[in-house]
Amino acid sequence: MCGIVGYIGQNPSKKILLDGLKELEYRGYDSAGIAVLEGDDFSIYKALGKLHNLEEKAHDFETHDFAIGIGHTRWATHGKPTELNAHPHLGQFSYVVHNGIIENYQELKSMLQSKGVTFLSQTDTEVIVHLFEHMLLTHKEPSEAFARTIEQLHGAYATLLITKQSPDTIYFAKHGSPMILAKNATHGEYFFGSSDAALIGKATQAYYLEDGDYGYVSPQGIVLKHANRTIENPAFTTLPSDRLSAQKEGFRYFMEKEIYEQSTVLADTLMGRLRDDSVYFEELAGLDTRRFSQIKLVACGTSYHSALTASYLFERLAKIHTTVEVASELRYREPLLDKNALFIVISQSGETADTLETLKMAKAAGLTTLVVCNVDNSSMVRLADYAILTRAGIEKGVASTKAFATQVTVLWMLSLFLSALPKERMQAEIATLRQLPETTKVSDTLHEKLKRLSKRYLYGHGFFFIGRDLFYPLALEGALKLKEISYLHAEGYPAGEMKHGPIALADPELITIALMPQTLLYEKTKSNVEELSARDATICAISPLEFDKSDDFIRTHAHAHPMLEFFEMMVILQLLAMEISIRLGNDVDMPRNLAKSVTVE
Ligand code: G6P
Repeated sequence: MCGIVGYIGQNPSKKILLDGLKELEYRGYDSAGIAVLEGDDFSIYKALGKLHNLEEKAHDFETHDFAIGIGHTRWATHGKPTELNAHPHLGQFSYVVHNGIIENYQELKSMLQSKGVTFLSQTDTEVIVHLFEHMLLTHKEPSEAFARTIEQLHGAYATLLITKQSPDTIYFAKHGSPMILAKNATHGEYFFGSSDAALIGKATQAYYLEDGDYGYVSPQGIVLKHANRTIENPAFTTLPSDRLSAQKEGFRYFMEKEIYEQSTVLADTLMGRLRDDSVYFEELAGLDTRRFSQIKLVACGTSYHSALTASYLFERLAKIHTTVEVASELRYREPLLDKNALFIVISQSGETADTLETLKMAKAAGLTTLVVCNVDNSSMVRLADYAILTRAGIEKGVASTKAFATQVTVLWMLSLFLSALPKERMQAEIATLRQLPETTKVSDTLHEKLKRLSKRYLYGHGFFFIGRDLFYPLALEGALKLKEISYLHAEGYPAGEMKHGPIALADPELITIALMPQTLLYEKTKSNVEELSARDATICAISPLEFDKSDDFIRTHAHAHPMLEFFEMMVILQLLAMEISIRLGNDVDMPRNLAKSVTVE
């Protein structure tokens, strides 16, 4: 995903910008660029591929005195990964970098083209710089022209702009994508970064811009505005100096950080893929989806639970017959692979040996293959005919959290992409998808409640996680999370299956985590939970509807769509597992016996 850096000061700008971009590399990108303005001279370098290509191009370039510069790593959304589409983008005498998506860029582009402006790239970003220069025709003051520009942008953005009209100033704005303004003790030196990873070691104080913040910075200082009001003395906080703790961004464990991050990475997953009444995957251009009569989903571990979830969505929304397989089983059971099936593998790492082998099998059998993956250039991405990246960013916790959330989101979008839903239904699904970043935010109240509850769940002879329909794979995932990091015995079951055996275990020492959404089979699930309660099992119910037969109750919001209930409950299960593991004194991020990427069969 894209990264942004910026610098104002006397020190060598090229090194500072490139160092910053290197720290953002982990987010994934396909091209990079920098623009530096020293006096009246712009120096611009852009390169496709890895940062060392950019470094080579800019090898002989150095700044000697005060300069301002902006840099960017691009992860293509609008327009292919080409040098022309790489940031920074040029107007006549200004450059811009941007993360996010300008939703009304077509409208703005047409307006500017009608005034004679020529566009070089296919990006949405380029409209910002042209609009700014257009605004300068009527507002002579660049800061005013910039403010009027920002006013007209719809969508999500974090942007930096530099212009020869004011060669000591960087203009900035943030709405929906992260951006940090930073400084150190050196007078007149300022930094920007889309994550603090780019700033650690260079700056000591950071101001995390809020949505709606904009303004400009020059050696004379910072002018920060919000809704036309100037914010005096923005509250800078101290940046951590230790890189590892910085990477954890104040969280105790990577897993905790990754749970909290889900809200922002899901916005990345959705970015550029939602239209008003359709879903769009640039990656699937050329794929004739009508020719598939069935879908086969294959994965391991948590990714298998995403696949199971997806099977409900594919059949319900896309009306395509769907089967799901554990990769290590499919490999050796001499399966009949039908050429009319779209073969989809799901993998966070793109390297899991069993999943990779099934992909090879499917290719050899002549099936069309697609991978849903988090790691660009991984073996599966390189091998599959088509690849959709989940854009979760690096996941360090062995127990997968944000990778699962982004996989399910991609697969939900894919089921809509393959569907023929009526327009209104499609619009409703898309509006619901847009609510995911909000739905997955962790509130302090919820986290505190789960911390408190966790002390009741350190013992017992086992956990059942139960749910129906979409909430059955979620129950499996909840049980897996707990098992992986607490080492307690936990199993997921379809709620309706309890009476066919598992209920024999019911007693006060058996803890049941019951997923009771109100939008999907509530009454049916409730009866199953009551059967357990009647046998004195300890019940922790998760539901928006009061349930008085439980020992503990976690109230969720009354969403209108099952997938919103799904995602809210997913966060609860992840946090609960983590808090139990912490109380048991386990290594949350590196649980015993487990590996993040399993490259042996
Ligand atoms: C390992 C990891 C799991 C992961 C599984 C599949 O077991 O510990 O978290 O779900 O591999 O990995 P993949 O990278 O293919 O999603």
